[in-house]
Amino acid sequence: MPATFRVGLLGHGTVGGAFAALLEQRADAIVPITGLKPELSGVLTRSRGDFEAILAGSDLIVELIGGLEPARDYVLRAMRAGRHVVSANKLLLSQHGEELWACAREHGVQLRFEAAVAGVVPVVRVLQESLAAAHVERVHGIVNGTTNYILTEMARGGLSYADALGQAQALGYAEADPTDDVTGRDAAAKMAILARLAFDTPVHLEQVRYEGIEQITADDIAYAQELGLSLKLIGTAERVDGGLSVRVHPAFLYGGHPLASVNGPFNAVTVESDVITEITMSGPGAGGPQTASAVLGDVISAMIPPATTPEATQELAIVNDVASAFYLHMEVADRPGVLAQVAELLGLQGASIKSVVQRGLGDNARLVMVLHPLLESRFYAAMRLIGRLDFMRAAPRAIRVIEEEFT
Ligand SMILES: NC(=O)c1ccc[n+]([C@@H]2O[C@H](COP(=O)([O-])OP(=O)(O)OC[C@H]3O[C@@H](n4cnc5c(N)ncnc54)[C@H](OP(=O)(O)O)[C@@H]3O)[C@@H](O)[C@H]2O)c1
Repeated sequence: MPATFRVGLLGHGTVGGAFAALLEQRADAIVPITGLKPELSGVLTRSRGDFEAILAGSDLIVELIGGLEPARDYVLRAMRAGRHVVSANKLLLSQHGEELWACAREHGVQLRFEAAVAGVVPVVRVLQESLAAAHVERVHGIVNGTTNYILTEMARGGLSYADALGQAQALGYAEADPTDDVTGRDAAAKMAILARLAFDTPVHLEQVRYEGIEQITADDIAYAQELGLSLKLIGTAERVDGGLSVRVHPAFLYGGHPLASVNGPFNAVTVESDVITEITMSGPGAGGPQTASAVLGDVISAMIPPATTPEATQELAIVNDVASAFYLHMEVADRPGVLAQVAELLGLQGASIKSVVQRGLGDNARLVMVLHPLLESRFYAAMRLIGRLDFMRAAPRAIRVIEEEFT
């Protein structure tokens, strides 16, 4: 009979419930891998279980409560008591990661969190282990499945944002309250964690600038399709001027970009570095059984060799003004000189135009252009002035464009 490995489970909701079922289902198959048979030693929810009793009877704690407290308190207490911890809690790690990783190192235990970023896509493991020797230059990610589903449906079916969101909610891809997803905050938390791992420097959620997708119109997507672009909510963490820029915003991608074809509720992360050029990983970004599978993978890893998140060795400055290419959408009165005036204001800020589409007449006239990269502060200065021109019929809209072509 193999020895038992006791797993205490905090939280028994969408992921916790799926994890409990999967653990039972896979327990026998785990024995040949680890020499141990995992079994649930206790479950804590708001209405059942006692944390101290579960801790005392467990070799490892799985935290699937979510939120900051009491999850933070339980995770710290478990590690101080010498237990390994597995968590899927991106909010907790993006705000208290340094405290938690320091506690894990101090007590010689593992804190694993593969399911906290991009669901079942093994990006945490790849950054921590496979790419540990790579000097990462940039990480790009579609790390929120809800928004990717909404944008995909807007592009495929010409749905409005509100209709696509309603469809996502009906299919269970979006919560009843989708705020964290559609504002980009959920993706920002995941990018903070990825940036910490890729660049070995502390990154707090509040240092990540984020914009969501609520302002995107089907119109923007249709115009951009004419220019060969597809729209994604992109998280970026990259080295800039000796510092680090971490941000989340909608961005247009050209067809050849590895993330351009990631559709529906899928997630994907691209890691770029001189030596490895580019690696893209993609797969389901959420869902109870999918996330539970990533959690169980972490439990199995914790049953075998040690893995730690080392102390940060860098203090990279967070850079907020970076160069971006932009798509600029303007509703204008149809009269001579419009393009020239817009071009002049852009030119004053050093912006140059890459492509232009003009459509419609009279009250339906639209001027859509893609600009070559320039500092965001300069672009927004020009856009503010353009917004004041007397022929503008609505505030101009801008969306970043990620320019690289991959072959
Ligand atoms: N859902 C996904 O697809 C997904 C994907 C990736 C990561 N995650 C992460 O996984 C974690 C869990 O998400 P979920 O969707 O499974 O959440 P959920 O369905 O809301 O379940 C939360 C569980 O935690 C329990 N709980 C809440 N407050 C508690 C407290 N104060 N003390 C003890 N138990 C408490 C709840 O108890 P009751 O049963 O009594 O309400 C429930 O069993 C979160 O960190 C989330 O970000 C989720």
